[in-house]
Amino acid sequence: MEYRRFGNTGMNVSRLSLGAMTFGRGLDRGESARVVDDALDNGINFIDTADSYFDSEEILGEILTPDKRERVFLATKVYRQFCRDGKAARNSRVNILNSLERSLRLLNTDYVDLYQLHHPDPDTPIQETLETLDTIVKQGKARYVGVSNHYAWQMAHMLGEAKARGYEPIVSYQANYSILDRQLEFEAIEFLRKFNIALMCYSPLSSGVLTGKYHTGQGIPEGSRATVIKYIEPYINDDTVGRIVEELKPIAAEQGLQLNQLAILWLLAKPEATTIILGGSRPEHFSQIYEIMDRTLPSEVVERIDALSEARIYCQYLNQGHRTAPALNPWA
Ligand SMILES: NC(=O)c1ccc[n+]([C@@H]2O[C@H](COP(=O)([O-])OP(=O)(O)OC[C@H]3O[C@@H](n4cnc5c(N)ncnc54)[C@H](OP(=O)(O)O)[C@@H]3O)[C@@H](O)[C@H]2O)c1
Repeated sequence: MEYRRFGNTGMNVSRLSLGAMTFGRGLDRGESARVVDDALDNGINFIDTADSYFDSEEILGEILTPDKRERVFLATKVYRQFCRDGKAARNSRVNILNSLERSLRLLNTDYVDLYQLHHPDPDTPIQETLETLDTIVKQGKARYVGVSNHYAWQMAHMLGEAKARGYEPIVSYQANYSILDRQLEFEAIEFLRKFNIALMCYSPLSSGVLTGKYHTGQGIPEGSRATVIKYIEPYINDDTVGRIVEELKPIAAEQGLQLNQLAILWLLAKPEATTIILGGSRPEHFSQIYEIMDRTLPSEVVERIDALSEARIYCQYLNQGHRTAPALNPWA
């Protein structure tokens, strides 16, 4: 396993990290425990979860006995509005502090290594959010703070405000990045390079589309994620996506790889990808990736894939809002 410095921090994280979104949803408790053990055995030292991933935090809290907890960088996120009858805005002081306490209790730990805003919150002044993130770091409840699903301008704004006020800066950006989801190459990548922000790539198989399991016009496979998550269907019905997946298949075969393995190796070849968050609903979805950890893709293969999937730079973000103007003017 290769390790990378996590942006402007002192953490050295594994290039592959473990996504716990399916713990309790797809993977039962026993399978989740085996997936964690297998990940640790394969050198993974970074686990990502969120307050919105159903039972994931609670299950992780059971699995991460003190010895295992101390071996991993543990990341979670705030999104849910559990308190004050949902009236506290997502990234408000009240909601963040409440959600973090709940996450720590469920995760059975005194601190998380990375606390992330799952989404921007147009209803809370950014100064309130930053001041709260600064507080939780000073309290020792989070070692670092980061964001997910933000635009570059929002992150630049946060860095500027934090610098001006002496608050903890964000250190990481968790974003949708795969052969089929290359939007950040258009918008965010130069920002990440300029400020040395760590990039955590989520949905590296585009929620399973990059396994080749979906076929336009043939219905949605029983038990697959597309039966429960509606945003996968537009991929299945998109001609460009279908063409790319078909063109990838012979490249994978040439390299002696499965499609999912090729997709992960393509991401590993991207220098800006600090860590790639693996996902799976079966233990073998993870172990298939560990089998190719000693492989790298030849640069001409990476370039071929870059060229054939170029259209996927210039399309809509999967999981980012289209509201660019916050409801409360943070400059006011
Ligand atoms: N910040 C965010 O907004 C955000 C959003 C999403 C994810 N994440 C993070 O990123 C992690 C990974 O995301 P992801 O789960 O979307 O990753 P992904 O690798 O794109 O998708 C994983 C899913 O693809 C299918 N799959 C994977 N390997 C397969 C194989 N060999 N054969 C058939 N199907 C296969 C499975 O779905 P089915 O079997 O159910 O079809 C599996 O659950 C999450 O755990 C979470 O930590 C963050």
